[in-house]
Amino acid sequence: MVSTADPLSITPDDLRVRRVGEPAILSPIAGLVQGRVSSPHYVHESDRVLLDDTLEGAEARLCGVADLPSLEPGGPREYIYFDPSRTRAGIVTCGGLCPGLNNVIRGLVLELADNYGVTDVFGFRDGFRGLVGADVAPVRLSREVVADIHNRGGTILGTSRGDQDPSLMVQTLVRLGISVLFVIGGDGSLRGAAKIASSAERLGVALSVIGVPKTIDNDIPYLDQSFGFQTAFTRATDSIKSALTEASSTPYGVGLVKVMGRHSGFIACYAALASHDVDFVLIPEVPFLLDGPGGFLRRLRDRVRRQGHAVVVVAEGAGQDQFEYDGAVDASGNARLADIGGLLRQRITADFAAAGEELSLRYVDPGYAIRSVPANGWDAVYCLRLAQAAVHAAMAGRTAMVVGRWHGRFVHIPIPVATGSRNQVDPNGDLWMSVLEATGQPERLF
Ligand code: F6P
Repeated sequence: MVSTADPLSITPDDLRVRRVGEPAILSPIAGLVQGRVSSPHYVHESDRVLLDDTLEGAEARLCGVADLPSLEPGGPREYIYFDPSRTRAGIVTCGGLCPGLNNVIRGLVLELADNYGVTDVFGFRDGFRGLVGADVAPVRLSREVVADIHNRGGTILGTSRGDQDPSLMVQTLVRLGISVLFVIGGDGSLRGAAKIASSAERLGVALSVIGVPKTIDNDIPYLDQSFGFQTAFTRATDSIKSALTEASSTPYGVGLVKVMGRHSGFIACYAALASHDVDFVLIPEVPFLLDGPGGFLRRLRDRVRRQGHAVVVVAEGAGQDQFEYDGAVDASGNARLADIGGLLRQRITADFAAAGEELSLRYVDPGYAIRSVPANGWDAVYCLRLAQAAVHAAMAGRTAMVVGRWHGRFVHIPIPVATGSRNQVDPNGDLWMSVLEATGQPERLF
């Protein structure tokens, strides 16, 4: 496993994308790229996208420009590996829901059909479990089947958490004649995708496995943003508006909003910044104390006294150190979180009562409502472009990689790099600084 938490530990070798073979077939869309050269708006397939985007970051590598770690650009290739007339593709969606899943499915199907002439596309039901067993029954994904799915939330294929035996999944793919598999999923599912790719390699099967990284938590590293995140945090701002309306319409009102975000507080931060009406943001990355003169409860009471009301946004993974962890995990191996929303509700109520101060507490938990909706316009565009990049990568014979956007460029990222660490809000970074500026909350709540 590559540990990618420290960018300096990433070597050019870590960023090398695996191939099932060398591309030797002229692509049906070669005309789109022939004659193009790198420009501020396009990266030629022979060029590379630098990992570091600051001078100091690059200088810290103590090497020449040619040796700087860099990513393979995404996009169509002049030559491809798979013969479109003999290619069958599979698609599977795994893990929790995320806005844009259907957009990616539709984007893959239409890109394969319209630009490569690959019309044998199959969708596996309910995550990886749809790829094993005697009764595997993939759905044929035709143009008609995907016609209007991008207007719906969820995934038409169904989804589930949990892994399956990779060699059994490869057996199924071989039996169905599938040589290109798209896995739309979060870190656990992407690790599963890498295992499928390795198992195929061991068995001598030319199978391209391409991941399209999915998570509303935006916690996949070396991606500017994961798809669905923007729709999800935008949706969360509706709950913040409701909480503010309630809190500011009652004497001594506190609106407490809990949003998703297991280990990364991006949804909480972005939703708070988008509404610009929030007084405290509590996220997993920034520890806080409830009690004491500098603790959250005292600061909240001060704010309500001064302002008449306050709005608090808490990410579900915040303040987990206030609980005893019982070791429970879900089917993906994620720790089951304790209910920070419930604890805050209880402690805020008790604290105001103990201080003899009036309080009207309104608790809003939008829960799954922020991720079960269709993608907004921005995410719809992003999903389509990720799907196009995924098809180009697969047809060119790349494998064990995900498509993503880094510094605004579409790139290929080897799965171990995308799953080797977690994207989190940096308490010393500019996003958290913006949150502190916008909320006026103290830098430390202890
Ligand atoms: O992983 C994304 C996420 O949205 C987390 O923020 C959340 O904890 C989790 O999914 C909940 O998903 P489920 O209840 O489906 O396991």
